[in-house]
Amino acid sequence: MAQTSHCMTIADDDPRYEELRSFINSHENKNGIAMTALQEAQNLFGYLPLEVHKFISKETGVPIAELYGVTTFYSQFNTEPRGKHQIQICMGTACYVKGAQKVLDKVSETLGVGVGMTTPDQLFTVNAARCLGCCGLSPVMMIDDEVYANLADVSEIPAILDRYREKAQ
Ligand code: FES
Repeated sequence: MAQTSHCMTIADDDPRYEELRSFINSHENKNGIAMTALQEAQNLFGYLPLEVHKFISKETGVPIAELYGVTTFYSQFNTEPRGKHQIQICMGTACYVKGAQKVLDKVSETLGVGVGMTTPDQLFTVNAARCLGCCGLSPVMMIDDEVYANLADVSEIPAILDRYREKAQ
């Protein structure tokens, strides 16, 4: 299956940069500004690509490497855009034995993206998960808070995903 990597960029004149600059400038005490600025940037942009790190570095004087150190250490930060809906495909033992790989393959094939990736319309991000705690229903997939159970027959997966697409229109 072909997988694509989305290299989305944020325009230099995006007004959110001005908001971020004001936010940084409103903090006279620059101790801990890296963490605070990254949190605000993620609130504004939804994720933290390289260009946002560069901007924060320029505005705060904190080296880019240091900012990336914070971003990669804390799981709350995303360097890639996240989809509106988070798909968790359980790859725990019980689900694996019952065909989790087929579920994952079907989701990837249907959406055209692999694990850890987001669809170009930013509707879905595909994630592989550890045991989701409902092994009796394996193989299991969750979309946001919704559990989809007994998915050994993967033919129903496209229809499940379509329902989210329809809701988004
Ligand atoms: S192994 Fe999948 S829910 Fe437990």
